[in-house]
Amino acid sequence: MPPYTKRVLSLPEYPLAKIPEQKRQLIARGVDVIDLGAGDADLSPPPAVIERITEAVRIPTMSRYGFALGLVEYREAVARFMKRRFGQDFDPLKEIIPLIGSKEGLSHLALAYLEPGDTSIVPEPGYNSYLGGTLLSDAVPYKYPLRPEDNFLINLDKIPAEVLKKAKILYLNYPNNPTSAIAPREYLEDVVKRCKELDILLVYDNAYSELAYDGYVPPSIFEIEGARDVAIEFHSMSKTYNMTGWRCGWACGKAEFVAALAKVKSFVDTGTFMGIQAAAATALDKCADWIPTNVAEFKRRRDAAVEAFNEAGFPCANPKATMYIWCPLPKNIPSAVFGERLLQDEGVIVLPGSLFGPGGEGFFRVSFIVSPERLREAAARAGRVLKKLQAQSGEESRPGAGRRQEAQSGMARA
Ligand SMILES: Cc1ncc(COP(=O)(O)O)c(C=O)c1O
Repeated sequence: MPPYTKRVLSLPEYPLAKIPEQKRQLIARGVDVIDLGAGDADLSPPPAVIERITEAVRIPTMSRYGFALGLVEYREAVARFMKRRFGQDFDPLKEIIPLIGSKEGLSHLALAYLEPGDTSIVPEPGYNSYLGGTLLSDAVPYKYPLRPEDNFLINLDKIPAEVLKKAKILYLNYPNNPTSAIAPREYLEDVVKRCKELDILLVYDNAYSELAYDGYVPPSIFEIEGARDVAIEFHSMSKTYNMTGWRCGWACGKAEFVAALAKVKSFVDTGTFMGIQAAAATALDKCADWIPTNVAEFKRRRDAAVEAFNEAGFPCANPKATMYIWCPLPKNIPSAVFGERLLQDEGVIVLPGSLFGPGGEGFFRVSFIVSPERLREAAARAGRVLKKLQAQSGEESRPGAGRRQEAQSGMARA
């Protein structure tokens, strides 16, 4: 048989790859597992969305191929959402493209813009499809470590000039997974300006635009002057409407950028089931009042998680958005060791920072996707593991010493 291609061999292990099997084994052993791994809440989509898809499955035309066009009603609902929420006008047919979840589009876009050997700038830790799309295009990722001292932002001034010269794509994601950092407007203004000067396509992943707290309202990149010339933005139905498994999202931007992605997709897929697009249109058009209730539930979970993990010995900051806390570990406890012990000894699943690459070391990600009670229980278990590991390593200093300040200043300023 032919060997695997170099490009497939170049893909690292997928961060969540082993979790389902490990979880199954633990449950089979009778362990009370608390899964805070994936960004996948145990909450339901809006009732109107369920009603709409129930109707849609009974309509024969919905079951036919959507092709690239998909359901025009969905494109139009996206356009109305982008206008209502961000004040931005998009042509539903030329400047919006339905996606089978934003992950799919984020990965496929690279095929349209990266030649073999080209460079893309990828945050590390970061969502895996930036790296995946780059490697599957035989291109070269320049991994920029997101660290507290940079407020978890990509500081273009720290990237060598020759890398910037070669770069074709810059991936940015704010509010950020996994660090939960947010990007100040001046930062975005500067990035847009620099991308224009450097002729770099800015791929702006806005999957968490609606999951924000304490009065923070995440912007669209298109609210920044000049962004239309350099950026394409990705949105997801998954997090806003608890529709992770439905696989529905969109990209929007200049017709030329959207057409490039549409061309790749037309040879790869035939669109999301149109019943799902119909239900997504209902979510966008009819569920604006439902979102704050859902966000309030996430806020309850965030507050519980931040308090409990802090009490358990992890000095984590209070995120202004997303469904993640990025918890610092003492310097002498590798995140993979911590994650494995927490899983095996206590049945709690978190994502060790190192799973995202070396740039994520020193942290672990908690998804606050279960009830406050379960989050408190998970934090208590994590605290026990921390104490055990500290006792073993003879570490006496406080956990996160030297990191508490960094993490908090990073959040406060972002
Ligand atoms: C930053 C980020 N972008 C994109 C996605 C993908 O979302 P979707 O379900 O729309 O593919 C995720 C999912 O976790 C994410 O965290």
